[in-house]
Amino acid sequence: MWDIIKRKHPNGFSILAPMEGVTNLNFRKVMRKAGRPDVFWTEFTNVSSFANPKGRPNAIKRLKIGRHEQPIVAQIWGVRPDDFTTTANYLRKIGYKAIDINMGCPDKNVVKSGGGSALIRDPELAARIIAATKKAGLPVSVKTRLGFSSVGEWKNWIGFLLKQDLAALTIHLRTRKEMSTPAAHYELLPEIIELRAEIAPKTLLIVNGDVKNTTAGKTLVEKYPEIDGFMIGRGVFEDPFCFKTTPKKPSREELMKLLKYHLKLYAKNSEDLAYDTMKRFFKVYVRDFPGASELRANLMETKSPKEALKALKKL
Ligand SMILES: Cc1cc2nc3c(=O)[nH]c(=O)nc-3n(C[C@H](O)[C@H](O)[C@H](O)COP(=O)(O)O)c2cc1C
Repeated sequence: MWDIIKRKHPNGFSILAPMEGVTNLNFRKVMRKAGRPDVFWTEFTNVSSFANPKGRPNAIKRLKIGRHEQPIVAQIWGVRPDDFTTTANYLRKIGYKAIDINMGCPDKNVVKSGGGSALIRDPELAARIIAATKKAGLPVSVKTRLGFSSVGEWKNWIGFLLKQDLAALTIHLRTRKEMSTPAAHYELLPEIIELRAEIAPKTLLIVNGDVKNTTAGKTLVEKYPEIDGFMIGRGVFEDPFCFKTTPKKPSREELMKLLKYHLKLYAKNSEDLAYDTMKRFFKVYVRDFPGASELRANLMETKSPKEALKALKKL
């Protein structure tokens, strides 16, 4: 799959970043309509939830692939290598062509469990997890950060990952300690590019952190042509049309149309998610136009997608 993507987008491919509670099936459909990324990524799914009969039904729901979503990468996380193999086998069976392992999540509970960014401090387990995931036969990538508590860790950690024969490596250019606050460390990119060329020239390099739209991503690739792809996360909150190749400020009509589409998708299939999870998206669409805050307040009072659609009709 990665070979095809690279061939199709030799000048850098765009990716919708995995975002828990955001990049579920409905939102990915919205993004497809707004101006699709070259590659989709799922939210992360815990492999031990999947391996446990009690957690499996929910994990299966989260991993559902929509129509026309390929290429899409499934992101998984956890600490038990056997559970990675079990989940990876299932992912292959249901049509995924690539798997990504989360080794960057800063969440306190995830770190406490030993997963996500905690793996930066446990390379031996990280290597066993990668090997266990590869057993399913799909290409395996890792998404990580520069280090756990200090930027200086990057060379050892990234160098170690590059030795794991990965199909791709996504680096969010911050440490776990930095969460998402200070500017991403783009000053390190030339050295990272050099290290990749030295250790693993075949591993695709994907850059993440503060890239707001495709224009910014393309500019980044022009500056550093060695980068294979760029990943956009929070940029979608500022502009859901950010993957369009020539983004312009969306009009109120465009935003309302997209919100209605999202509400209708949710009404048709809520994916068993509470209506409050849908409400979180209102600020993505209802912003930056006269009367936006009043409309948002009205929408927040609604109790169902039907009520919200009714409120929008009054506009
Ligand atoms: C709400 C939210 C949920 C996230 N969930 C995940 C996740 O499930 N897996 C993951 O690897 N990163 C997750 N991230 C991190 C993003 O993928 C991305 O690395 C980070 O936001 C930096 O990119 P940006 O500056 O483009 O937003 C999440 C970020 C946000 C804001």
